[in-house]
Amino acid sequence: MSHFAAIDRVPGDPILGLLDAYRADSNPAKLDLGVGVYKDALGITPIPYAVKLAERQLVEHEPTKSYIGGHGDAAFGEQLLRLVLGADNALLGAGLAGATQTPGGTGALRLAGDFIAAQLPGRGIWLSAPTWPIHESIFATCGLRVEHYPYVGADNRLDVEAMLDALQRVPAGDVVLLHACCHNPTGFDLSQHDWQRVLEVVKARELLPLIDFAYQGFGDGLEQDAWAVRLFAAELPELLITSSCSKNFGLYRERTGALIVRAENFEKLIDIRSQLAFLARNLWSTPPAHGAAVVASILGDAQLRTLWTEEVEAMRLRIANLRNGLVSALAPHGLAERFAHITAQRGMFSYTGLTASQVQRLRQEFSVYLVSSGRANVAGMSEQRLDYLADAIAQVCR
Ligand code: LMR
Repeated sequence: MSHFAAIDRVPGDPILGLLDAYRADSNPAKLDLGVGVYKDALGITPIPYAVKLAERQLVEHEPTKSYIGGHGDAAFGEQLLRLVLGADNALLGAGLAGATQTPGGTGALRLAGDFIAAQLPGRGIWLSAPTWPIHESIFATCGLRVEHYPYVGADNRLDVEAMLDALQRVPAGDVVLLHACCHNPTGFDLSQHDWQRVLEVVKARELLPLIDFAYQGFGDGLEQDAWAVRLFAAELPELLITSSCSKNFGLYRERTGALIVRAENFEKLIDIRSQLAFLARNLWSTPPAHGAAVVASILGDAQLRTLWTEEVEAMRLRIANLRNGLVSALAPHGLAERFAHITAQRGMFSYTGLTASQVQRLRQEFSVYLVSSGRANVAGMSEQRLDYLADAIAQVCR
């Protein structure tokens, strides 16, 4: 008898799988606009200088490699709470919010999913359509009922009315996943007015928001991008937030993130945190230390923090310039208006509106790699390659 004979093959990851295909492509003109990593003008994903400096200090002064606790690095947790919720947020002094360190934002989502499944049985989770494909698989794997609310229509435009309409019919108590900024995959963000309206529905329907905050600093700025998270934390007694340091600290492979809980009172926060520590122990025991130590060092040091803030801002501005540059490069092809939405979108990604077959042609004929949904990683472009890209897009749009 074979134990493994009945095991099927699953398709490769829709995003990470593109990396392998791109690496195997021998065309020197190839362009990787798949996985969400920031690249500089040389096509390299840089390690921020602030990170390098913090790492140097750690090499010299890190006292031990012993385990960190179930909630991770306490200094990291404190600093991250201040970054996400605001340095002088009264919730922090009152002990109404806590961070549990996780392996990246993905780990935080998994921890949140397991927590909901274990402690809030029967609750469904509502995801935007479309959303990051891994949201779908994580929560399904946790055994949650996964449902969808509309977000972007067939015309590739944000449809807030349809979203609100659907949320109004979500069963009371269900969880609604919202993207704090830089919506993945579309790049279409809610306005402050839209967020206020979502908040009203969340209150009226007694929904539990889970806000995914993976791109702080890449939309309108580090503080500006936290606006909705802080509004919800101020207005709602209970809230879950997943935070990632992958993009804004350039710490992708160090797997650095956290699940933040805002609870109604201190005792309840401790109860919830005990459950999270239990779940985390059974998932990864204790989280990886290095990335969190780097983040804590940067945020806890005025000079490093200033340097890092400038570096995040430089990445943000460069992405915004690339958006404008691409639309300008499309103009001679008569496509500026058709792709004008690229400049209205925020963050790393653009839902271009290109079809799966156009994406396939881009890959086969031009070695340009996008996710099959038509999502392009704008942060993977370079100024020098915009004409090539615009030309390729024009050809597949003919
Ligand atoms: C992406 O969407 O490309 C990023 O969030 C990276 C990932 O893990 O998929």
